[in-house]
Amino acid sequence: MSKIGVIYGSSTGTTEDVARRIAAKVGVANADLHDVSKLTEELLDNYGVLLLGTATWGSGELQDDWYDGVKILKKHGLAGKTVALFGCGDSGSYPDTFCGGMGELYAELKDTGARFVGATPVDGYEFDDSPAVVDGQFVGLPLDEANEYDKTDARIDAWYEQVKGELN
Ligand SMILES: Cc1cc2nc3c(=O)[nH]c(=O)nc-3n(C[C@H](O)[C@H](O)[C@H](O)COP(=O)(O)O)c2cc1C
Repeated sequence: MSKIGVIYGSSTGTTEDVARRIAAKVGVANADLHDVSKLTEELLDNYGVLLLGTATWGSGELQDDWYDGVKILKKHGLAGKTVALFGCGDSGSYPDTFCGGMGELYAELKDTGARFVGATPVDGYEFDDSPAVVDGQFVGLPLDEANEYDKTDARIDAWYEQVKGELN
C-alpha cells in the first residue's frame, strides 16, 4: 500500500485540527502531516496518496498558503497519485460559497493526472450553493466546525469507511 501524506492549509487552526483528526483516523503519523506553507517537491516524492485539506476564505476561495502549494503540486505533477480532498467552511455565514476553497483546490488539480477519490453526498448538509459540488456531490469531505462541530467525527468516520479501500 502506498504511503499516505496529509497536507493542510489553515489560517486560524481549524483545518489543522481536523487534519490531525483525519490523520489519526487514517493512521498517518505526525511526521507525515504537513502544513502546506512548508511544502516542497521533494516531500511529495514520499507519498502515493495525498489527503489535501483547505479552509475557505474570501468569498469561496482557497486558504492563502495553498496558492503557492498549488504551484508546487502542479510543477511536480500528480500522475500515479491518489488524492482525496477535505475542507473547512461555515455554512451559516457563507451559505452560497460553502467550502468553496475545496472546490477551488479540485479545479486547480483535476488535470494534474491524479486519481481523485472521496466525493461526498450532499445529504445532511445545510447550504444554498457551493463551488465544491461537482456532478451533484462534494468533491471531497466538507466539514463545518462553526455550526456542526458535533457532526465532524461521524462525518470523518463515514468518509473514511467509504474511501479506505481506495487509498492505494
Ligand atoms: C473573512 C472570512 C471569509 C470566509 N469565507 C468563507 C466562505 O466563502 N465559505 C465558507 O464555507 N467558509 C468561509 N469562511 C469560514 C472559514 O472557512 C472557517 O472559519 C474555517 O473553519 C477556517 O479554517 P482555518 O482556521 O483552518 O483557516 C470564512 C471566514 C472568514 C473569517
